[in-house]
Amino acid sequence: MPAESKHRSRGPGRCLSFVVFLVALIAIAGLAVSILTYIKLMNDEEIMTSPSAAVGLANGEHIMTSPSSVMPVPDPRTEAVVACYPEENFNQAQCEKNGCKWLGSNHPRVPSCVFENNAGYVIETNDTQTETERSATLKRAGLTEMYGMEVREQIKVTVESIGDHMLRIYFAANDSWEIPSEALPMKRPTGTSTNKQYDVKFVTSPIFGVVVTRKSTGAVVFDTSIPGLIFTDQFVQISTRLPSDNLYGFGEHQHRRFKHDMNWRTWPIFTRDVAPVDEGINMYGAHPVYMNLENDSKATMVFLKNSHGMDVVLQPNPFPAITYKTLGGSLDFYVFMGPSPQQAVQQYTEAIGRPMMPPYWSLGFHLCRWGYKNLTEVENIVERNLRAGIPQDTQWGDIDFMYKKFVFTVDKATFKELPEFVDYLHSIGKKYIVIVDPGIGNNDTIITEAAKNSPSYNMYQDGKDANIYVKKSDGVQDFEGKVWPGRTVFPDFTNPNCSSWYAKWIRYFRNSENVSVDGLWIDMNEPASFSFDDPNLPESMKCQNNSWNNPPFMPHILQGDTGDLFRKTVCMDAKQYWGDHYKVHSLYGHSHAIATHAALKEVMPGKRPFIVTRSSFAGTSQYAAHWLGDNQSQWRQLPWSIIGMLEFSMFGFSMIGADICGFYFNTNYELCLRWMQVGAFYPFARNHNARKGDDGKFFRDQDPASWDEEFVGITRHILLIRYKMLPYYYTLFHEAHLHGKTVARPLMFEFPEDKNTWNIDRQFLIGPAFMVTPVLEENKTTVDGYFPKGRWFSYYDGEEIHNPGAMNTLNAPLSVINLHMRGGYIIPMQEPANSTVYSRKRDFGLAVNFDESFRADGHLFWDDGESEDTFGSNEYLLVHFNATKGERLDITVIHDGYAEARSLKIGMIELFGFISFPGELYIDGKRLPANQIRFKYHVVQIVDLNIPIAQNHTLTWTVY
Ligand code: GLC
Repeated sequence: MPAESKHRSRGPGRCLSFVVFLVALIAIAGLAVSILTYIKLMNDEEIMTSPSAAVGLANGEHIMTSPSSVMPVPDPRTEAVVACYPEENFNQAQCEKNGCKWLGSNHPRVPSCVFENNAGYVIETNDTQTETERSATLKRAGLTEMYGMEVREQIKVTVESIGDHMLRIYFAANDSWEIPSEALPMKRPTGTSTNKQYDVKFVTSPIFGVVVTRKSTGAVVFDTSIPGLIFTDQFVQISTRLPSDNLYGFGEHQHRRFKHDMNWRTWPIFTRDVAPVDEGINMYGAHPVYMNLENDSKATMVFLKNSHGMDVVLQPNPFPAITYKTLGGSLDFYVFMGPSPQQAVQQYTEAIGRPMMPPYWSLGFHLCRWGYKNLTEVENIVERNLRAGIPQDTQWGDIDFMYKKFVFTVDKATFKELPEFVDYLHSIGKKYIVIVDPGIGNNDTIITEAAKNSPSYNMYQDGKDANIYVKKSDGVQDFEGKVWPGRTVFPDFTNPNCSSWYAKWIRYFRNSENVSVDGLWIDMNEPASFSFDDPNLPESMKCQNNSWNNPPFMPHILQGDTGDLFRKTVCMDAKQYWGDHYKVHSLYGHSHAIATHAALKEVMPGKRPFIVTRSSFAGTSQYAAHWLGDNQSQWRQLPWSIIGMLEFSMFGFSMIGADICGFYFNTNYELCLRWMQVGAFYPFARNHNARKGDDGKFFRDQDPASWDEEFVGITRHILLIRYKMLPYYYTLFHEAHLHGKTVARPLMFEFPEDKNTWNIDRQFLIGPAFMVTPVLEENKTTVDGYFPKGRWFSYYDGEEIHNPGAMNTLNAPLSVINLHMRGGYIIPMQEPANSTVYSRKRDFGLAVNFDESFRADGHLFWDDGESEDTFGSNEYLLVHFNATKGERLDITVIHDGYAEARSLKIGMIELFGFISFPGELYIDGKRLPANQIRFKYHVVQIVDLNIPIAQNHTLTWTVY
């Protein structure tokens, strides 16, 4: 391990003058916080009222140490309340005339008109009650009409215990639409229930509600006994009380804090092609799921299995609550009881499906850009990064290589030699990934031209013959929109015949266009269509004005203020195999991922498919990774990328990252360098750049080798650290795939009992043991990082954090990102190389980080890195590392099923956190000569070990 840079930790002040200085500083900081908080509040309001405006905040607006200092709004409530017709801005008379209650509020975000206490449903009959299930028929109480639609007279409720930690609470009318089981078969935990963590009761008056209590503490973790439960044809609403205001999750949005601001924020959920520039906007994916941390640090996760467009409205302390307002469907809640945040995620992903096991090469560095003018440009960029010693595993092809943006074609004018180039990449240990957009060009003139470029290409006609396109509302004609190739149709990936059609065209790309592609990047699958921006759109392509396209209730989705639900996408009355587009819109990307996954398995049997998708739903991570979309080259986007990454980790996506250096606009030296440092530790590390701006000028290159020597040196160094860490990352990915553990983690997941961690979203952990404390602002040479109680060692030189349990100020000149390892953990590493094909053959190393009792523990999972389900077929190596009492380290092979691993060696073991240096060292009983032991800064290095990784070993030592 290199020992290039040192950091400084600063303890508390010592003398009186320092205390005076500190008090003054706190006062100034307090004032600054109030001003910034005020600015924040104002900005938030601006966002709420104009969701389409790209509102920007100044750098530094987000205050890490006190994000909970959001200014509370005046609160007239004596209970959790639910707004009644909030969009109407009723006065008292209008409110009461509509059957609602006047609360009166003098703040625009707090509702003035709310539901009466008796609005909702009451029990008509109690139906079943068994050990595991209780159900009842409910009848309407209070309101009979909402948004001009009749409130359903009767609905059903069923509560089902599913094991010790999971339960389902299901409200539905007799004809509520359900997400089909092939889209999301909710899996049930195996084993019998022996120790249920929850109690459930029905509240019967003044209105019906289901109340779930945590048995161990009596905390009410889920409670629907709030007025305003409503079922109509196109508006379904329910509210739930929360045990605390520590709320995380819901997506996909550009959240500016990981822990939510509960002050009446509304988060719309409906998949949409929109760049993450603003906070209140519904983005690419749909994840109606949250985590709540009770004040004693116990966590629940709650998933609402509903794919309709919806608003999620939050309300603050002292009556924290959530209101869901959906466009339809049932209210199908799954509650996961934790009690630790990590366990809650594990229970959630056990139900929705665990994240896929990525191929090892996909953990390397990825390079991409939109706007490569021709193959020569790509070749030059790969070459200059290779020459600069930048490790890179994959090169990507954006839509530029296609003939007129027809998917699975190669433009023979500009990218003719792409097949040879991809073969060359393979020969130097690299891979190639291409973009695939769902839209299939169906413009006759272009199709005829395309036949000249790619003679046997007839993908559109083939899909038409197979009858697999999304249909218009008549269920007969293909629905047409506009995407990159111009006029397009949209494959209906919910149709079971779609994946074999896709497989055929992936095969065509590999065998006829001759591109031996390694993975697919599925984009624009919200689905995006540009047609409704076209003022001259032919009548036949317009959406009809009906209640699907223009529903009576409209969530706060982007451009929803036009009354049109279909902006930038497909008409809501279009027909798909799983149902009307209105119902399955937010499942389009999910179904695209499922079909592409099935197709790749067919085309490349035995290999793990590697797919990156833009749009996602709960469960998509079983099939694909995700990146955070079209961010911007701006400083404020850097911390937001950490929040997005942590949220997607919680949603079950282990392979997640943002476009490094920013996508839109020209990046700059310092920003790109700091971003390379952070991005080097994203689970998915890709530098990707947009084409050109509105002025027609191409954005500047931002691949590492496009900068000067200093930039290249710093980037190479940090990427080599990533490559060194990959055995640790890979082991974490395996644990995510198998057990639902997270790869990137908020500090709160590891230290839930330390309340200081609850707000932290400018640092992150990789697994339990590796902390990243990046600089996220311009012109900074130090960074403040919080280190929970315990031992933390600098990755670079082993220096220990002197003040754990507090903020520490660390040196962070431009060349340094602070990285720390946690006492108690052993991190497996490997000598890096310029791609994983080569690094995988090199020597392993172990970083043994002792805790206060001089213990440490860790694992290595290893296999061929690309075959499917090596765990199931037992073709893997699993090694356990355990150091006890500072006296010995045992390396124990738990499973030796991967023959190739037997030739791999451990070259070096490093011991971090010794108080005194060891005297004699023995490996497997043999004393090590002095020249194999080095003392480097605070680290004891044992070098040139050359012992097989797939065998048991014992390292012992005596301490002077
Ligand atoms: C979308 C993608 C972006 C890609 C571009 C061109 O905007 O999000 O990553 O570069 O389309 O394909």
